[in-house]
Amino acid sequence: MTRRARITGLGSYLPERVLTNQDLEKIVETSDEWIFSRTGMKERRLAAENEYTSDMGAKAAFAALKDANLKSEEVGMILVATSTPDYVFPSTAALIQHQLKALTIPALDIQAACTGFLYGLACAKAFVESGLYNHILVIATEKLSSVVNYKDRTTCVLFGDGAAAVVVSNQGEGFEIKEICLGADGEAAELLMLPAGGSRFPASEQTVASNMHYIKMEGQEVFKHAVRRMEMAANDCLQKANLPPEAIDWIIPHQANERIIDAIAKRFGVGSERVFKTVHKYGNTSASSIAIALDELVKQKDILVGQNLLLVAFGAGFTWGATILTKQKDL
Ligand code: UT7
Repeated sequence: MTRRARITGLGSYLPERVLTNQDLEKIVETSDEWIFSRTGMKERRLAAENEYTSDMGAKAAFAALKDANLKSEEVGMILVATSTPDYVFPSTAALIQHQLKALTIPALDIQAACTGFLYGLACAKAFVESGLYNHILVIATEKLSSVVNYKDRTTCVLFGDGAAAVVVSNQGEGFEIKEICLGADGEAAELLMLPAGGSRFPASEQTVASNMHYIKMEGQEVFKHAVRRMEMAANDCLQKANLPPEAIDWIIPHQANERIIDAIAKRFGVGSERVFKTVHKYGNTSASSIAIALDELVKQKDILVGQNLLLVAFGAGFTWGATILTKQKDL
């Protein structure tokens, strides 16, 4: 029998602390009006000082396992999408594996910035459909507040912390991963990056003094690439799945900016009632963004058998991707 990967459990975790636009007004020269009109954001969540990327990922993973009615011993592999790992090494996946008490199963970090969840989902689909593993945890988790410069108004208003996880299995009721399209182009890598801390600019007094351990972004340029690449990825995915845009019941774009989300929806002729947004309350949580939104959509709306969800993302690298998930009964 053909093995078909599907998402059988979902969970997410958002830290308690809320950082509102009004809070940001007290830190940098900005205004609620500017932030909301340019991004659609009202507030975002921040992890506690002693709450790390692995802790949030583990909480989301426990929720997804519960939802899938699966024990951690039954999981074959852990994939973690993050740009804000606890350490450069060991991997955040290994730390989460320990928290889950998931014995000695393989655990691997994936670095594809805001597209990381889709890259993780693609790897999980391939591993499950090849027969190598029956159940894989794909976790997206970010503590972006650890790499945001709260003196830089052009970036600090945009990002938030949070995590989400899914169980990808070869059997059970859930969302079939019908199609996934991924892409990358490193030509304009410097438009969105965290410059120091790697082999090119190891940490030094000078990298610290020059604020090189914080996110740097050329917002307007990234905006244009994001709209173009997400439209392209979504089109590719629809074509591969042989589906017209009208067949999409819900679209979940990367939650970087409401104006980008609306531009994507408009290009596909999808009405706002079919676009799921969390950007107003969580901001941009990078790899976690579409995974958190997917969990909330599934918990809040009654998705019927046969309905299709389109997830589409774009991030540093640049990287991009789209996937079509179809609600199904046990196959
Ligand atoms: O997750 C990965 C992908 N990321 C994205 O897709 C993000 C893409 N980019 C964006 O979402 C938008 O470019 C931003 C939200 C980052 C910025 O919006 P924008 O409409 O492109 O603004 P801008 O950068 O062109 O800045 C316009 C003005 C500037 O002032 P001047 O030069 O016109 O006098 C900025 O200095 O707004 C100023 N500005 C601010 N003013 C108040 C920039 N940040 C702020 C701020 N508060 N927080």
